[in-house]
Amino acid sequence: MKRSTKKSVLISLSCIVVILAVVLLFIFLQPTIQPVLTSENELDVYQEDSVDMKPIIMPETEPNRQPDEEPETTETLEEPTQPETTRIYEVDGVTYISLEGVEVLLVNKVYALPPNFGGPNEEATAALNRMFAVAAEDGISLYIVSGYRSYDTQASIYNRYVADWGQEYTDTVSARPGHSEHQTGLTFDINSLSNSFKNTDEYAWLQQHAAEYGFIMRYLEGSEWATGYSFEPWHYRYIADSQLATNIMESKLSLEEYAGLVTERPEPEIDE
Ligand code: DAL
Ligand code: ZN
Repeated sequence: MKRSTKKSVLISLSCIVVILAVVLLFIFLQPTIQPVLTSENELDVYQEDSVDMKPIIMPETEPNRQPDEEPETTETLEEPTQPETTRIYEVDGVTYISLEGVEVLLVNKVYALPPNFGGPNEEATAALNRMFAVAAEDGISLYIVSGYRSYDTQASIYNRYVADWGQEYTDTVSARPGHSEHQTGLTFDINSLSNSFKNTDEYAWLQQHAAEYGFIMRYLEGSEWATGYSFEPWHYRYIADSQLATNIMESKLSLEEYAGLVTERPEPEIDE
């Protein structure tokens, strides 16, 4: 064979090998290409208006689908539905929220209780006593400073505070009658009514263990904008479900923030 013919045969063979390699590479790589979630889809599981909010209810997601598989129905091609928000409803004038499958009574600056609602709550008191007993075994002394308060008792406390300190300040530390969690019998002020309580071993123990007994701290430092009240390291609210209580306590959010009931207050506008 001529030298030039040999050379063209070699070049042709090299081209064929390169083309074959490219085709094989394409075939092997094809199944590993996964559809990429857009950030838009990912964001849909969060409540847009909430602050640092964890998803409340995750919408069902479509299982990973290979690119060559057809979707089963045209429905899967539709835009993902919006996540359900916390369900809020009223029974006999009392407001509840449905949170992670748990029905939680809600009373705050917005939602009031009927004046004749409430009384000491046996289940909450029993849970509190169990907690106090275990704390005592750990060398931690816990006791009630204030538990159930009727509408009328709350009214006289609130009015006395207003007389002493004025309404504006009072509204940051005391609930108006009908708006106090103490009226439910589900809430207890423990050991102290002073901010210095947060520096005690008793406070640390409660932070670590209260949720195991179904209690959450209700008025957190930094959540004043959401609750409307100053930090109360002593005020614990029974919500019964220890898993939900743990989730809320670990979130370091107030109930209002955790449930997505409030949106962040806008920064005040500064005039140029
Ligand atoms: N100190 C709380 C806000 C109450 O009065 O219920
Ligand atoms: Zn309290």
